[in-house]
Amino acid sequence: MELKGCIFDLDGVIVDTAKYHYLAWKRLAQELGFDFSEEQNEALKGVSRMASLEILLAAGGIKKSEDEKTILATRKNSWYVDYISRMTPEEILPGSIILLQNLRENGILTAIGSASKNAGMILDRIGLTKMFDAIVDGYKITRAKPDPEVFLRGAKELGLEPKYCIVFEDAVAGVEAALDAGMICVGIGDKNRLGKAHLVVSDLRGITIEQLTKL
Ligand code: BG6
Ligand code: MG
Repeated sequence: MELKGCIFDLDGVIVDTAKYHYLAWKRLAQELGFDFSEEQNEALKGVSRMASLEILLAAGGIKKSEDEKTILATRKNSWYVDYISRMTPEEILPGSIILLQNLRENGILTAIGSASKNAGMILDRIGLTKMFDAIVDGYKITRAKPDPEVFLRGAKELGLEPKYCIVFEDAVAGVEAALDAGMICVGIGDKNRLGKAHLVVSDLRGITIEQLTKL
């Protein structure tokens, strides 16, 4: 492919914020009187805040009104924000900075395509905001992954057609969104889960532009 832009999911690709999401959801579950396992938490990766809450409540067999759900989601988010407000650049996942620098030095545009409304704050905390030509977060989209909206918007903000873009994703819903957007997808994580991606690697270490253009 002719590579002109790379769009990165944030949570689980550039930083491991999944652990903070999990801590906050688990705390909410405990307040509601049930336990929420790390395995159950897998289903929440890449999923929007409200959709995550629905999954959590279903796991606990709990029904709540729409107003109560808004209060619960806000409570979870305030704990989560408390955790991420203490993040430092040391939490940037291995290989991220080198890859971003390499792409930018070679004229390849970079973007964030995240479902999170906290993406801007996380990027500020870890000092990476300036490494991206476009940042698409949960405030800019109306349809959550696996809908391709987030990545199509990312390509648009970069001024590129989808076929020139590669998406880096750790969530199954995100891989589906990238493929649906007509983009090449590199899965970050487990091959068994992310097998639909064009390439699956365990992290961003050692990824070269030459390797990407062969996809
Ligand atoms: C995604 C995460 O990036 O953002 C999900 O993978 C999360 O776990 C979603 O629910 C929404 O994030 P936030 O920060 O807006 O609650
Ligand atoms: Mg992710």
